[in-house]
Amino acid sequence: MTFAPSLDLGLVNTIAAESKMSFIDGTKGVLEYVGIDIDSLARNSTFEETTYLLWNSRLPNQSELDEFTRQIQAEYDPPNEIWDLIKRIPTDAVPMHALRTLVSALSLFDPEADDPSPEANHRKSIRILAQCPALIAGYDRHRKGKDFVEPDSSLGFAENFVTLLTGDKPTETMQKAMDVCLILHADHGFNASTFAALVTISTLSDMYSAVTTAIGTLKGPLHGGANEAVMHMLKEIGEMDKVEPFIKGKLERKEKIMGFGHRVYKAIDPRATYLKTFTKQLAEDTGNLDLYEMSNKIETIMKAAVGARGIHPNVDFYSATTYYSLGLDIDLFTPLFVMSRISGWAGHCMEYLQHNSLIRPRCDYVGPHEMPYVAMEER
Ligand code: ACO
Repeated sequence: MTFAPSLDLGLVNTIAAESKMSFIDGTKGVLEYVGIDIDSLARNSTFEETTYLLWNSRLPNQSELDEFTRQIQAEYDPPNEIWDLIKRIPTDAVPMHALRTLVSALSLFDPEADDPSPEANHRKSIRILAQCPALIAGYDRHRKGKDFVEPDSSLGFAENFVTLLTGDKPTETMQKAMDVCLILHADHGFNASTFAALVTISTLSDMYSAVTTAIGTLKGPLHGGANEAVMHMLKEIGEMDKVEPFIKGKLERKEKIMGFGHRVYKAIDPRATYLKTFTKQLAEDTGNLDLYEMSNKIETIMKAAVGARGIHPNVDFYSATTYYSLGLDIDLFTPLFVMSRISGWAGHCMEYLQHNSLIRPRCDYVGPHEMPYVAMEER
């Protein structure tokens, strides 16, 4: 193999592997899962079906979907030790720290944790995905001093999550909104957290370690944590009249506006386009139209100021208002992203392992050479 290294800060120009899962055209604003446009999936699919698509490179027929859904439902309930562990987490912990810890802890109670076979990896992927709602909802109820709600294996994924969180079945609108958000966030090429998962799995570590790595990576405000940052920004702005001075002031100080810009999209992120329309109705129905209108105004100001530089709303910009309109706590927004993206992380890990190669880039050493070792007393 010839080695012709070149410096590529942020891996902006590096293609690290082939994948059949998601396709992004950042110039045209296109996102497809296995060739199917994200808009069609958001309108017609469910999270379970979309996950099957990502993991199997095709849509399931009815009996395949029923069987896959049954496999997920059968794993909704985490081991008792995990429910006990949730009760020991400090009630003021940041939910992302709690979730990362709990997903890691799941491995302690899975006899297959270190079985590297494709079949075991598939079963573990289902388990991690299926149990994530109970971990998020369980911790949220614990911190609020509420009793846990038992998972219900007769419910779909989105419905089970809302029931675990609130104790009540979701309305049809809420269930559809959850499903849409889960579908839109399920996969997105080699984003930072997916790549982090791949680095871990490429060492032939295990699925739990890979997903735990990815959760830590998604947490940052430049990645999945941006949805929470957007909501805090909207709250800080507070009213329509303050939008313009707030945004312009930030831009003048060269500060970033959360929920805008993307490493790949230089046109509008198609997930944001879909969510924008969807959220307007939801915000109207739930009395949060002011948030939607504030967001719309920010988008207009940003378009005039930096649109020509390819900085547009990304998925996190309108998902913040969607989640808030659904009545979810702001610090649960990124855990919700985790719940969905496990689909992509696990799918990419299983796909990558079919042709595994250790991910190990080099650094460009720019320090000194041939330096003497100076004894302590002479320094
Ligand atoms: N607001 C204002 N200016 C921006 C923004 C923004 N949101 N994003 C990029 N820019 C500007 C930068 O200041 C920089 O300007 P300069 O050339 O004058 O220094 C230029 O655009 C390039 O920005 P980079 O951060 O170098 O570009 P990169 O491709 O690394 O950025 C990123 C991608 C990190 C997402 C960036 O747009 C950002 O920080 N956005 C805000 C955080 C955010 O919303 N993240 C969520 C992304 S979607 C997701 O992960 C699910």
